[in-house]
Amino acid sequence: MSLNPNPIVMRALSSKSLKGIVSIPGDKSISHRSLILGALAIGQTKITGLLEGQDVLDTARAMVAFGAQVKKNEGGEWCVDGVGVGGFAEPSTVVDCGNSGTGVRLIIGAMATTPINATFTGDHSLNSRPMERVIDPLRKFGVAAFGRSKGRLPMTIVGARSPIPIQYTVPVPSAQVKSALLLAGLNAPGDTILTEKEMTRDHTERMLSSFGVDLKVEDIPNGRLITLSGYSELKSQNVRVPSDPSSAAFPICAAVIVEGSEIIVPNITLNETRAGLYKTLIEMGANLSFENEREESGEPVADIRACFSPNLKGIEVPPERAASMIDEYPILSVVAANASGKTTMKGVKELRVKESDRIDAMAKGLRANGVSVEEGEDWWAVSGNGIGTVQGGSMCQTFLDHRIAMSFLILGLSSQKTIEIDDCSPIKTSFPNFVDLMRDLGANLELRDL
Ligand code: S3P
Repeated sequence: MSLNPNPIVMRALSSKSLKGIVSIPGDKSISHRSLILGALAIGQTKITGLLEGQDVLDTARAMVAFGAQVKKNEGGEWCVDGVGVGGFAEPSTVVDCGNSGTGVRLIIGAMATTPINATFTGDHSLNSRPMERVIDPLRKFGVAAFGRSKGRLPMTIVGARSPIPIQYTVPVPSAQVKSALLLAGLNAPGDTILTEKEMTRDHTERMLSSFGVDLKVEDIPNGRLITLSGYSELKSQNVRVPSDPSSAAFPICAAVIVEGSEIIVPNITLNETRAGLYKTLIEMGANLSFENEREESGEPVADIRACFSPNLKGIEVPPERAASMIDEYPILSVVAANASGKTTMKGVKELRVKESDRIDAMAKGLRANGVSVEEGEDWWAVSGNGIGTVQGGSMCQTFLDHRIAMSFLILGLSSQKTIEIDDCSPIKTSFPNFVDLMRDLGANLELRDL
């Protein structure tokens, strides 16, 4: 049974060729950051292409609760009047970050070194996710936090009254933790110095620099060293949000496994911290090409052409690639179910603490539909027998996880029998027009009347 009292149950049916040009909404990571950095800046930040998914709208509402002004103008541009570093006001009510781990962790970091208190909550999924990874290092700045057992939300943060900058090695490969600590460092005197053993998405570093913060990144023998000078002032910026490669992954993987398909997905960032899926698909034999390669706002971008790929083969995805495709493993497992042989995905323990335990959620739905899956704590393997061999015919549960819902909708497009998905409502958190966009390409997706 769904965790949502008002689930959107859908059916995905075997589909004929997907064709068209797909416009993907704005990147979720960059959208959250542009609102938060805009709120911490002096002056008005203007954002075009902001993702208007529920996660990002919850962050916009939170920034208003902390005293910034956030408005969408008639031209569709979002304007944020910031309060400056250290200028956050104390929210008068509980801050609800909905389903978003990125939202809550970054906002906790951004307010943690300001002398105010705030209480955070979220939905059932967010309130079961670990927050110690952010809270433990924040305590070193002088922050106090009172949450539920195992560091879960709801949680009250008592911002540090006299913050002390920290030196810290981030113990898990997490851009959210790194970013929360960098944002906290903004209002601490002196240098906050972080070591990252595995490189994770670097949007916070790039964007802080473009907002004028003194930040230095060095490659060191066992990772990267990031030094941020505290009490830096952020100057408002014009931000153009590129299309989200993690959202683009769904129509691209669908085109690869649905016979006769050919689609073009323009303007996708190939930033090396985000592009691991594309490397992996090519190794599996996917027919992808990267056209009009160029640079935009300091990010390498290309238009991606994805065509039906009849001879996909199983491969081993190395653990060092995990951070650059961490959100893409659910949809990769759908491609793997349509490849010949075993695809083994290693070094992916982090998948167990996303919006759901993504290994468990995908394994359950794939097995129910006739696909063989093996799993361990930090690895899993999916064995396929080639395109069109997935039996289908069963219901999949999404556990309030948008990427699980979209992955199973795509699985159904190339399966022999219809696949039902118990709740597609979480898709609105990251990709509100996903179903319409897939239908426009030719995907056979139906709403099931309850
Ligand atoms: C994100 C970082 C990743 C990713 C999430 C977005 C970000 O999480 O899974 O969807 O914007 O920083 P972790 O930092 O927990 O790996």
